[in-house]
Amino acid sequence: MTGGPVVRLAPAKLNLTLAVLGRRPDGYHALHSVMVPVGLADRLSVAPAIGPADTLHVAGADCGPTADNLVLRAIAAARDRVRAELGPAAPAGPLAARLEKRIPVAAGLAGGSSDAAAAIDAALEAWGAAIPPAGREAVAVTVGSDVAFFGVGGWALVEGRGERVERIRSVRGPAPWVLLVTPAVPVPTPAVFAAWAAGARGAGYGAAAAASRHLADELRAGMSARALVVRAGILAHANDLMPAAQHVVPGLVAFRRGLIRALGTAVGQSGSGPTAWVIYPSREDADAAAAAVRDALADGRIVAPGGASPAVHVAPLVLDGPGTLAAGHGGSDT
Ligand code: C5P
Repeated sequence: MTGGPVVRLAPAKLNLTLAVLGRRPDGYHALHSVMVPVGLADRLSVAPAIGPADTLHVAGADCGPTADNLVLRAIAAARDRVRAELGPAAPAGPLAARLEKRIPVAAGLAGGSSDAAAAIDAALEAWGAAIPPAGREAVAVTVGSDVAFFGVGGWALVEGRGERVERIRSVRGPAPWVLLVTPAVPVPTPAVFAAWAAGARGAGYGAAAAASRHLADELRAGMSARALVVRAGILAHANDLMPAAQHVVPGLVAFRRGLIRALGTAVGQSGSGPTAWVIYPSREDADAAAAAVRDALADGRIVAPGGASPAVHVAPLVLDGPGTLAAGHGGSDT
């Protein structure tokens, strides 16, 4: 053990595209998705525990039940791997984790998976345990399908059930900002995939896969931030799980319609939802849109499912290069 706390920021992710290619024999679904980190982040710190077991303290809005938290599962999986690779006597003692939540849970933003990826990294550092990248990837996949994405630390094309992650260059130029509106209704990912498998698909099924492949090609070739902003209206439709999420939570249909009317633009969905997104060229534009959404929620032009008002955040897309995540940490609550 190195002794001091190890701190990691765990960013949210946004699916710019999400194509579901089919159901696999193992029950998971084959995906083609361009995923990008967003400067709205949880903060995880890990230190040696006083007692004999790993502990987790969760603070901040929207804390879920801690017993099943992916942070504890990630630490346990990392420990198993360290002992398998380095021997049973390898240092992998109990850890005390503290998690400050800012990312809404069960929202399509992969907050729990990002926390888990941060926990794997922080635990290995706290133990001073060096295991090869393949070992880390194996740990990530055992904890959850979205965890591997966060291991690569940037924009990526994600395939398979989520474990095949190809790092691709981010766009160049000033970081676009994203408006995120998350209704206060958790949407369980398994229910959304089950609805897709049962036939909840849009009339234009197949278009998301084409848009996703096209975007991946453009990013590989080098794409400007401006070009991405122009493309955002098309990408907003490139999520095969949108009809399935609306099947699970019918109130999302009116919610999305209200957002589209209030903002006068296409509105995307991240992952299995319910978070809705719109990309803007600057923070000022995203802030103005957030204010418009707040007004429309207040006077009933936007009606959201859930027992409370939706969470409204603005945050930058995290581009390649140093500092963006730190600068954008937390985005802003509006
Ligand atoms: O891998 P993870 O535990 O995060 O996935 C949660 C659930 O989402 C799975 O149990 C499965 O029902 C569904 N899923 C899927 N196909 C994927 C990823 C997740 O069907 N590629």
